[in-house]
Amino acid sequence: MSSVRIQEFLSSPYLHKHPVHDSLLFYYLRRLMDKPKETLPAGRQVVMSGIRPTGFLHLGNYFGAVKNYVRMQEEFECFFMVADLHSLTTHPDTKELKENVHRVLSENIACGLDPDKAALYCQSHVHETAELYLYLNMMAYKGELEKTVTFKEKARLHPDNVNAGLLTYPVLQTADIILHRAFYVPVGKDQEQHLEMARNFANRFNHRYGEVFPEPQAFNYGNELVKVPSLDGAGKMSKSENQFATLYLSDDDELIRKKVMKAKTDAGPASADAVKPDYIENIFLLMKLVSTPETVNQFEADYNKCNIRYGDMKKQLGEDMVKFITPIREKAIAIRHDHKYLREVMEKGAEKARKSAKTTMELVRQAIGLNYY
Ligand code: TYM
Repeated sequence: MSSVRIQEFLSSPYLHKHPVHDSLLFYYLRRLMDKPKETLPAGRQVVMSGIRPTGFLHLGNYFGAVKNYVRMQEEFECFFMVADLHSLTTHPDTKELKENVHRVLSENIACGLDPDKAALYCQSHVHETAELYLYLNMMAYKGELEKTVTFKEKARLHPDNVNAGLLTYPVLQTADIILHRAFYVPVGKDQEQHLEMARNFANRFNHRYGEVFPEPQAFNYGNELVKVPSLDGAGKMSKSENQFATLYLSDDDELIRKKVMKAKTDAGPASADAVKPDYIENIFLLMKLVSTPETVNQFEADYNKCNIRYGDMKKQLGEDMVKFITPIREKAIAIRHDHKYLREVMEKGAEKARKSAKTTMELVRQAIGLNYY
């Protein structure tokens, strides 16, 4: 309905028969008329994602997230962030924080992220995040937050530190994303529920105060979101748990070979074309990430003919992992020690992110009605 039609309707004699209904109707129509004009950023579609500085980056972070960051920076307006505020929900001791932030930045850049193409910044350098988090917290309900899988898991692991920041973790993540009115969010499978919550919170804001935000989507170029499994067949690779079953981008060649050789296997299939147990499927999955299709096909054929030798397969996988990880590790070490460069990257990224955040927050305050003059 156009503004003129709404104006006509509001002055119609049919209104005012039921004062309560009238005032509600009045309120919603006013909201429609006051809706901010420019709601989506002009130009290229916006992308946003983040990584917590809680440990060493691993193969899961690369194939679940960073690989897409590198591809997306060529096509979209990208904001990638080190989620240092999120890390405080579980890691209150900040002795290693600075080093971890430097490491995450260096490893992102070593993987191919270009700070001249994408904004690469620290969450705590963009204060608007905290303001948006505050508004969104008033639309997030205790019941839904308590049901979040990551909250329940973390509360179970650290019963002595179930803080409000942990409970509202998905609200802060939503603020990170919608602060740039991002549409695509490249993440791994473990972030699916957080993204669903981000869509709910963004929609709730739009319904209550007027259309400001697009609905953010978890993104992997139309494919299933990635989950890189751990080498022991139990769960996924992780920054701080399960360290011997996780391949880190900082592992040296010997450690990589050792970890791969320890991956769980068995005596081999008992019949041709047998279904693979999960832990064997995982080794094939890891091989598909770093080895050539010919290598994978050869081992698939061996498996199906029951003459696979897992020792040979793991040796090959170890070598292919070394080939994949070594250049990233070496580049990251060189960058990590260049503090002047890292500072410039953070400053430039934060400046870009703050500019985008400022525009969004003006729309947000106007939509909520926090503009008094
Ligand atoms: P974090 O730091 O746990 O992980 C960073 C990214 O790596 C992905 N990932 C994996 N992908 C596949 N297989 C795995 N084994 C694996 N492990 C981790 C994660 O899905 C993620 O994409 N809450 C977020 C950080 C965050 C964020 C954001 C993300 C804060 N604000 C805004 C997106 C948008 C987290 O803890 O990621």
